[in-house]
Amino acid sequence: MRIKKVYLDNAATTQCDKRVVDAMVPFFTDTYAVASSDFSHSPGIEAREPLENGRAVIADKLGAKPEELIFVSGGTEANNLAIKGIARAHRKKGDHIITSSVEHRSVKDTTVALEKEGFSVTWLPVSKEGFIVMSDLEKAITKDTILVSIQHANQETGTMQDIEAIGALCRKKSLFFHTDAVLTFGRVPIDVRKSNIDLLSVTAHKIHGPKGIGALFIRDGIKIEKTMHGGFNEFNKRAGTENIPGIVGFAKAIELIESDETQVIKELKCRLRDGIMKRLEVVQLNGSLEKSISTILNLTFRYVEGESVILHLDMKGIAVITGSACFSRSLEPSFVLKAMDISHEEAHGSIRFSFSRFNTEEEIDYTIDAVCNIVKKLREISPIAPDK
Ligand SMILES: Cc1ncc(COP(=O)(O)O)c(C=O)c1O
Repeated sequence: MRIKKVYLDNAATTQCDKRVVDAMVPFFTDTYAVASSDFSHSPGIEAREPLENGRAVIADKLGAKPEELIFVSGGTEANNLAIKGIARAHRKKGDHIITSSVEHRSVKDTTVALEKEGFSVTWLPVSKEGFIVMSDLEKAITKDTILVSIQHANQETGTMQDIEAIGALCRKKSLFFHTDAVLTFGRVPIDVRKSNIDLLSVTAHKIHGPKGIGALFIRDGIKIEKTMHGGFNEFNKRAGTENIPGIVGFAKAIELIESDETQVIKELKCRLRDGIMKRLEVVQLNGSLEKSISTILNLTFRYVEGESVILHLDMKGIAVITGSACFSRSLEPSFVLKAMDISHEEAHGSIRFSFSRFNTEEEIDYTIDAVCNIVKKLREISPIAPDK
């Protein structure tokens, strides 16, 4: 069996659904006026409808009010705006931020940038499965702490943090709680009120929406400092002409998610994991078995290099990534796996498979065969494999 292309890098981005593209097209060609020109002409007023409809759809999915949601260019901007916006606006209250050691770079590098502005940052360690420990969080809180930013699901392992417990603690201690929900939005139910979330980042391109559009939930009444200046758009919290086609596509992507989609994807993930583990020895799961998002599976194949495996898989038309050089663009293994106390050698043999609604059982079976054959062959020539 030869399948032309198996795309298993859906945690990086997903294929834009054709129905999303179709919904977007009229907003490039017909309804194209600037939506925020409130008191201008009819085309401008007409363009406000898709903007406000999109806002309502996405806010509703989070249990938020439409006016608590502002559109930005994606998850990276949402994380930047949330963290810098809160830190700079509330600096008089305190200058300490708590985050975890496994956050996406858009959180990690933002907090590093704030350190250079004089803020102090605590990087919480994680367990072997990638969880923060609640008592560590509690101990890290000082009188100067203003913000806790902990992701919902991890980009490399899929491990999901207990955002409800974190939210409850932050509320009790009167701290702002931001979560990066880029990988869970539309996949896992989220209720910003129930989880006491103050700020939450989402993006469209992980759920078959277009690239370049995301949103930030900011709880009613919370002050943030703008990072993008140049106009009064988005309740004067983010300047710039609104990306109406993107917003329409984002809302459509949300509407297209079927209620059983997560379960179907989870079955593909289990099929791949079980299929590989039945046929290959010394394969380890990186992350949590139970508390993990359905779209991500990270496995270490001992005694082989992840780079070799992905190159061989690529020749068979299968797209995956490794936890070594790909994430860091150096020979250093990924900081996420390192923070989980996964050895250098284990990290180098790790592969991230990530799934979407467009993957099929046939593709998974093809991938199981390919992975098992490639890893067996590489182990035969590996100088560090114990018995061949
Ligand atoms: C967990 C997480 N946060 C944030 C981002 C950044 O989102 P965007 O690509 O929309 O800027 C990503 C993208 O890979 C991600 O996986």
